[in-house]
Amino acid sequence: MIAASAGPIDTERLRLEPLVERDLAEVHAIYADPDTWRHLPSGRHLDAATTAAMLERSARSWRAAGVGTWVVRRNDAEARRLGASAATVLGTAAATAIDGGMLNLGYRFAPAAWGSGYASEAAAAVLAAAGEAAPARTLTARVLVGNPASIRVLERLGLELRWSGGGTGGGSTGAAALERRIYADRALDDEQLRALIALG
Ligand SMILES: CC(C)(COP(=O)(O)OP(=O)(O)OC[C@H]1O[C@@H](n2cnc3c(N)ncnc32)[C@H](O)[C@@H]1OP(=O)(O)O)[C@@H](O)C(=O)NCCC(=O)NCCS
Repeated sequence: MIAASAGPIDTERLRLEPLVERDLAEVHAIYADPDTWRHLPSGRHLDAATTAAMLERSARSWRAAGVGTWVVRRNDAEARRLGASAATVLGTAAATAIDGGMLNLGYRFAPAAWGSGYASEAAAAVLAAAGEAAPARTLTARVLVGNPASIRVLERLGLELRWSGGGTGGGSTGAAALERRIYADRALDDEQLRALIALG
């Protein structure tokens, strides 16, 4: 039986904790901020219910695969170093179960936290957690070509480019009409690749 949620993950500068209901207001503020959707304005969360649905997806993923969405904060030492609060949510990092025996890697940080390597540090921790909890699942990530910071994070993680293209339609956010890339930690079979392309 896979746990419905896991404990925290500590990295050098960060503490990752599974997303819970009391985080939703802070997480929603990040997902509702147009600056965190510059590359895909249609994806912005327009209401709190859209963010609450993330919690549902995360819980389902935890039950299915032992991983889901984590909320990322500075640890005490990093907060002290910067004179900042360790309570502030910096962003999220997630490995979410999707069809085809795969995980989808995702992250979104508040603009004030960009440029310090936090996304790379958190995503590396999630990648390691996924490798432990769900080693049989292929870890994948979809990114728009117009999002070079995210591409850089994926490449620093060592994920490999498996497909690039665009303008094929499908998906729910309009991403399918844009030029994009698919990365994964291992080879994808045709069915997996088709499914990922269809997600947009
Ligand atoms: C993508 C995102 C998570 C990166 O967060 P971050 O904490 O600044 O990321 P990091 O500092 O770990 O790494 C970013 C890397 O991109 C690089 N980068 C940033 N802007 C860039 C640009 N315009 N062009 C090229 N590289 C860029 C940085 O230099 C850094 O690489 P380096 O460490 O080799 O110097 C953040 O910008 C974000 O939340 N964006 C909005 C949400 C989003 O796009 N999520 C991903 C959807 S696929």
